[in-house]
Amino acid sequence: MRFVSASDYEQMSRKAAGVLAAQLLLKPDSVLGLATGSTPLGIYQNLIAWNREGMIDFSRAKSVNLDEYCGLSPEHDQSYAYYMRENLFSRVNIDPANTHIPNGLAEDAQAEGAAYDALIRSLGGADVQLLGIGHTGHIGFNEPAGEFIGPTHRVELNPKTIEANSRFFASMDDVPRYAVTMGVGSIMYAKKILLAASGADKADILYRSFFGPITPQVPASVLQLHRDVTVIADEAALSVIREKAPEALA
Ligand code: GLP
Repeated sequence: MRFVSASDYEQMSRKAAGVLAAQLLLKPDSVLGLATGSTPLGIYQNLIAWNREGMIDFSRAKSVNLDEYCGLSPEHDQSYAYYMRENLFSRVNIDPANTHIPNGLAEDAQAEGAAYDALIRSLGGADVQLLGIGHTGHIGFNEPAGEFIGPTHRVELNPKTIEANSRFFASMDDVPRYAVTMGVGSIMYAKKILLAASGADKADILYRSFFGPITPQVPASVLQLHRDVTVIADEAALSVIREKAPEALA
């Protein structure tokens, strides 16, 4: 586990984008595991700029996204398919056919999950999986639960997550109650994990995820078992780790 500190959101975004850019430079046909939410927006802006400057090339890259809301079509402006098109795919030279997101409209969520995991396996897994972290400790949409769920599956969203994500919707009632998400097994299958976090509201959950017990009540804690995890976070998000486990940040 590596912790890379950044002074603020902008610097966190540049450093995390640097890891993804290096991945593409070293292996142009990389499989990038991508994430949504507010946190990765700055990362994607850096990648777009570097792609325009000719620094990085997405023409042979492939991508797998973590999750999608159930019931939202890819045209819905709050779907993660729409988010990815708007914030990255339409602005870099990636082939849309090489980008993959779970289908939130699938009738049979179990079959969709199995097909998505088969796709990830057929691509050889993500070379690097970008993650944010939710206030509940969720990764993708793996919410606190009684057990870790390995495969891609349909999940009922936690009330805290619905509240946090309601800022993107007209009202709380418009936030979908279910999502389809890579399971912790699908995420752990990635060769490398890159978790990005920003802001004081993530400081406590970041500490509990990496220095607390490994428990499905804190889904991100499973990452303690992955052999190649890099956490890039700004000082505000690292504040509890800096206070309680400063040696990790040396
Ligand atoms: C969302 C996504 C997660 C994301 C998290 C945090 O609901 N499903 O993949 O990491 O919540 O989002 P943010 O970066 O906006 O805090």
